[in-house]
Amino acid sequence: MRRAVCPGSFDPVTNGHLDIVGRAAKLFDEVVVATGLNMSKNRLFTPDERIAMLEEATVGIPNVRVSGFDGLIVDFCREIDAVAIVKGLRGAGDYEYELPMAQMNSHLTDVETVFLPGAVGNAFVSSSLIKEVAALGGDVSGLVPESVREALVRRLAERRS
Ligand code: PNS
Repeated sequence: MRRAVCPGSFDPVTNGHLDIVGRAAKLFDEVVVATGLNMSKNRLFTPDERIAMLEEATVGIPNVRVSGFDGLIVDFCREIDAVAIVKGLRGAGDYEYELPMAQMNSHLTDVETVFLPGAVGNAFVSSSLIKEVAALGGDVSGLVPESVREALVRRLAERRS
């Protein structure tokens, strides 16, 4: 059984993330989508909400499961016996951000990082931009699952009231 982890903040999950998770699931026996904490980012959704959204979005992929994790991603990989971390790259900016993390993770452990090129159509899709556009009244349908779009609209309305 070769298991991989797709880690991220997923605040919220986008169709770009789901493309990478679906493709990783074709390469590995099992993929664990793991929501962690990026200390430098502001959260819109709680860890439980992010997990629930991921579970709903990946329900159709039998070899994908969802988990939260605390601490180092490499420790989580060791705990669940995962051999690889899979990340999507939309472009050079992602590569600059991801490469030092991959190298640090490789320094800390023997877990490999596998980069998959993001689909061209998702090149501009990020959780941060989704939140910004939705907060300012823009339409994000087609870029996130419909249930995520609805959750975004609800949460942003709560924040405004
Ligand atoms: O959505 P993001 O910002 O790409 O997610 C980044 C995340 C959460 C995957 C990354 O920050 C992470 O792995 N955090 C766990 C703590 C850790 O292992 N830090 C050292 C990374 S080299």
